[in-house]
Amino acid sequence: MSTLSQTRPLTVLGIESSCDDTASAVIHDVPGSGPVILSSVVWGQTELHADFGGVVPELAARAHAEKLDLAVEAALAQAGMALEQIDAIAVTAGPGLIGGVLSGVMLARGMAAATGLPLVGVNHLAGHALTPRLTDRVAFPYLMLLVSGGHCQFLIVHGPNQFTRLGGTIDDAPGEAFDKVAKLLGLPQPGGPVVEEAAHAGDAARFALPRPLLDRPGCDLSFSGLKTAVLRARDSVIAELGGLRMQDRADICAGFQAAVTDVLAEKSRRALAAYLELSPTTPVFAVAGGVAANQSLRAALERAAQSAGARFLAPPLALCTDNAAMIAWAGIEQLRAGLDSADFVARPRWPLDQSAAPLIGSGKKGAKA
Ligand code: KG4
Ligand code: ZN
Repeated sequence: MSTLSQTRPLTVLGIESSCDDTASAVIHDVPGSGPVILSSVVWGQTELHADFGGVVPELAARAHAEKLDLAVEAALAQAGMALEQIDAIAVTAGPGLIGGVLSGVMLARGMAAATGLPLVGVNHLAGHALTPRLTDRVAFPYLMLLVSGGHCQFLIVHGPNQFTRLGGTIDDAPGEAFDKVAKLLGLPQPGGPVVEEAAHAGDAARFALPRPLLDRPGCDLSFSGLKTAVLRARDSVIAELGGLRMQDRADICAGFQAAVTDVLAEKSRRALAAYLELSPTTPVFAVAGGVAANQSLRAALERAAQSAGARFLAPPLALCTDNAAMIAWAGIEQLRAGLDSADFVARPRWPLDQSAAPLIGSGKKGAKA
C-alpha cells in the first residue's frame, strides 16, 4: 500500500451502503492541486421504507445487494473511467446496518480480488468528518459537528485516523427527532424540511419545551425527552380544542426547532471552547449531516463559531448527506497517510474515538457508534 504514497496522483472508487443510500463515486486527487469529484451517484431508498416509519435493515440490505454493482458502473461511466484506470477501492466498513455494510464490503472485496487493486476499509463517520478537507482543504485540527438522522456528535479531527469525541447524543439523533415530530403532527417524511417550513409561521414561545442536558456540563446531548414533550403538547391541544389547527402545528414545530437549535448552539459553544484550547492557527467549525440544512440551526451555529473567532463551514448539502465521494476521499487520505487497512472487517459499531465512553443510543438509522 505504501507504493500509493504521498506524491502521485490517485484515482479512487468509493462505495457506500451502510444505511439507506446506495452510493458510488470516483475521485481524482493530485497532491498540491487538490481533489476533483469525477462522479458521485447516490440512490436513496426513501420510498422502499416509506410505509414502515423507519429503515428496515433486511429490505435495505437486499436493495443494496441488487443495486450496488449498477451504482459502481454508473459512477465509473459518469467519470469516464474504466476499472483499469482506478488506483484503489475504498468501501464503508462500518458503522451502520450490518447487512448493507456487508453488501458493499463483499462487492469491494470481489472487485479487489479480480483486479488486484488495493482495498481500503473506511469508517463512515470518518467519511463525514473528513469532508471539509475534500471541499475546502481545511487544515487539521478542526471541530466537526455531525448532525443527521443517524448521527450526532462533536469531534475534533486531528488527522485522517485521529479523532477526539467531545460528546454526542445519548439517545435519538436530531434528524430522527425531526422525523418523529413530523409523524406526531401528521406531517409527511422526511420530517426535517417539513417541520422547518411549518415553523416559519409558528410562535416558538407558545409551548414551554425542555432544553435537555443543558443543565449538565459537557457536550453530550439528548433528544428523546424533547420528543415526548412535543407529544404532550400535541395531546394537550387536542384535549382542549378537539384537534390540531394549522397554527397549532406551526407553533409546536417552531417550539421544537427552537429547542433543538438552543441545545445544539450551547453545546457547540462548549465544544468550541474545548477545541480552542488546542490553539489551532486557523480555527474552523464545520458541520455535516442532513440536519445541517436547517437554516435556523445553521445560523445559530454560525453565530457560535463567529463569537469564538472560528470560521464556520458547511459543505454543499449533497456532500453533507450520505454519499460515496466522502468514502473515496477518506480512502485517499488513508492511503496518503500510509494507513494500510486491507485486513478490515465489516462492523455494525465502530466509534471514531476508541478512547471515548460508548454512547448509549441506537436509532432507526442504525448504530450511532
Ligand atoms: O444525513 P442524512 O441525509 O441521512 C442520515 O441520517 O444518514 O440526514 C437525514 C435527516 C432526516 O432525519 C431529515 O429529517 C433531516 O436530516 N433533515 C432536516 C432538514 N433536512 C433534512 N432536519 C431539520 N431541518 C431540515 N431542513
Ligand atoms: Zn451518514
